[in-house]
Amino acid sequence: MAEEQTVRIGIIGLGARAETLLATIFEMKETAVTAVCDVREEKIARIHGIFDAHSVSRPKAYMDYRELLDDPNVDAVFVPTSWNSHLPIACDCMRKGKYVGIEVGGASSTEELWQLVHAHESTGVPCMMLENCCYGRNELMVLNMVRQGLFGELIYCECGYEHDLGEMSWAVEKRFERSIHNLRRNGDLYPTHGLGPIAKILRINRGNRFLSLTSTATKARGFAAALEAHTGKKADKVFNAGDVVTTVIKCANGETVTMIHSVSLPRPYSRNGRVQGTRGIWLENAGGIYVEGISPRYEKLDVANNPYTVHEWDKVESFYEKYDHPIWQDYRNNVIGGHGGMDSLAMRAFFDAVRRRIPTPIDVYDCAAWMSVTCLSEQSIAMGSMPVPFPDFTNGKWIDRAPEAPSRWALNEIYSD
Ligand SMILES: NC(=O)c1ccc[n+]([C@@H]2O[C@H](COP(=O)([O-])OP(=O)(O)OC[C@H]3O[C@@H](n4cnc5c(N)ncnc54)[C@H](O)[C@@H]3O)[C@@H](O)[C@H]2O)c1
Repeated sequence: MAEEQTVRIGIIGLGARAETLLATIFEMKETAVTAVCDVREEKIARIHGIFDAHSVSRPKAYMDYRELLDDPNVDAVFVPTSWNSHLPIACDCMRKGKYVGIEVGGASSTEELWQLVHAHESTGVPCMMLENCCYGRNELMVLNMVRQGLFGELIYCECGYEHDLGEMSWAVEKRFERSIHNLRRNGDLYPTHGLGPIAKILRINRGNRFLSLTSTATKARGFAAALEAHTGKKADKVFNAGDVVTTVIKCANGETVTMIHSVSLPRPYSRNGRVQGTRGIWLENAGGIYVEGISPRYEKLDVANNPYTVHEWDKVESFYEKYDHPIWQDYRNNVIGGHGGMDSLAMRAFFDAVRRRIPTPIDVYDCAAWMSVTCLSEQSIAMGSMPVPFPDFTNGKWIDRAPEAPSRWALNEIYSD
């Protein structure tokens, strides 16, 4: 396929996420949605209405995604269904020779992740998780600074998904899948927004890997409280998902990563990013970066006249001009689409790989490592926070993998164009 050619996309799963992706696609004007699919007719009617409102011709509609995969007018597929169906659909896409971009979420078992890996290895067709946060401005700038050596040797990271989603408690009645996962399961159910960028920074699957984790869950009170506030009645449901789930991952190269999953308590949104090395640190919740030799550091006298060293944060924004990732240097004055511009970047990275028939910057090994946190954390919690080993989904390739395809969208190294 020629590099300038329009990628013809089929979208499977036409919920809220498909609508926001579509809004961004209409702004991007560099791809065409030629087919859509949902098991519910009303979702197809709704999405057709959105095409009409934008005066864009309606795509062909299917209720069985396997028929969409046989459509010769579909070059590649997005899968924004809910969590349990991403992986089997992705495997079918690869078996039909279609590049596939799955939405974010966690896995229910390591078995389904092995199936994903095997589908890729037996077909050679890529599957990318459309983890938009990997293309966030701050995440990419920190990646750039780390690769330039400003943080020294990496030691410790944190990340998370902390988002008040109390409304999921009453969406159970509507069979909203995410709500039902929170009702039935207890683990880190949504690991990839925080962990994806951190895994890339730590070179996971390329010279490093996740070895083991422990997870601990608090009691679960938040969803019941939200439901009671909403209905004015005593909650008639018992949610299993602990209000705060803390997971600690140990990496082969000696770093640890602490993750927080918290979606049922009142609080502002945060992905809780922290990247810390021997010479510098980024702390999302402080809005700051400290780099030895750059940030303010001075001697001060305390009341007893004992000198001590004061280290002060620099604002993250003060590094943009010099250290923005090349992607954001070009993009910062022309940001489009959802989630502060990250959505269009993740899609562009995918389209670039489809056009050039090269591997995607987030691959099946990344998907498997990141998504496995969900089912492994459930196991750890069920066993009283016992350590649980990560499978090596690369079967040893991580030790000395061939370099990734050079691309401006690459997430392991930095390429200017
Ligand atoms: N990247 C982000 O920033 C971001 C933001 C929001 C949601 N998401 C993710 O997007 C995904 C979808 O979220 P949502 O809120 O739109 O969910 P949703 O439940 O509203 O929509 C999912 C749609 O998929 C359809 N579906 C399910 N199984 C199907 C199948 N086998 N074939 C065809 N259609 C099928 C459902 O009928 C539904 O319309 C989730 O993985 C979610 O985590 C990502």
